[in-house]
Amino acid sequence: MRIVRTTDYKDMSRKAANIISAQVILKPDSVLGLATGSTPIGTYRQLAEWCAKGDCDFSHVSTYNLDEYRGLSHDHVQSYHYFMRKNFFDHINIDLANTHVPDGANPDSDAACAEYDRIVADAGYPDLQLLGIGRNGHIGFNEPDSVFSKGTHMVNLTQSTIDANSRLFDSPDEVPRQAYTMGVQTIMYARSILVVANGKDKADAVRAMCFGPVDPQCPASILQLHTNCTVIADEAALSKCPL
Ligand code: F6R
Repeated sequence: MRIVRTTDYKDMSRKAANIISAQVILKPDSVLGLATGSTPIGTYRQLAEWCAKGDCDFSHVSTYNLDEYRGLSHDHVQSYHYFMRKNFFDHINIDLANTHVPDGANPDSDAACAEYDRIVADAGYPDLQLLGIGRNGHIGFNEPDSVFSKGTHMVNLTQSTIDANSRLFDSPDEVPRQAYTMGVQTIMYARSILVVANGKDKADAVRAMCFGPVDPQCPASILQLHTNCTVIADEAALSKCPL
């Protein structure tokens, strides 16, 4: 694991955007695995700015998001599909037909998850997978568990994740209780992984991810076994790491 320390959120975002931009310059038809949440928003903004200047070209890129709430259609304002359009896709020159998010509107969880596994496999898995990390060490919606998950599957969200995500809804009752998420095994198939983290409320999770035992109680800890994983985190998120 490579750990890159940044001064603050802006610095983290620019450095992460630099790595994604380099990936797309070197391989214009890159397959990118993408995440939602607050952490990558600055990275997406920076990439959109470079795209507007003509410095970054997404016209041949395809994307596969990690997860989606079960029960929300693509145009629901709280869906991750909508989030991606609002925060990234609508501001870059990507062909929306090349963007993919699990189908939260399909109530048949087995069919929805099998279909997503198939399209991610058909794409050959991401060249670069961008990840945030939850305060409990989750990646995608892979919550602490007794085993590492494999392919795309339905999850019941933990109370801590529901509470964390309720800030984006009018009330905690509106937060869906289930989601479809890429599994840990699928995430590990990506040829490179880029984790972004900021703020002191991520410090325990970042320490467990980078220095704790590889343990499904901290799903992100499996990334220690990936051969090409970079963590870009600010001072606060790294404050509990023995660096
Ligand atoms: C969302 C996702 C989640 C988030 C994590 C951190 O697609 O993959 O694992 O990355 O919950 O969220 P933020 O960035 O909001 O702290």
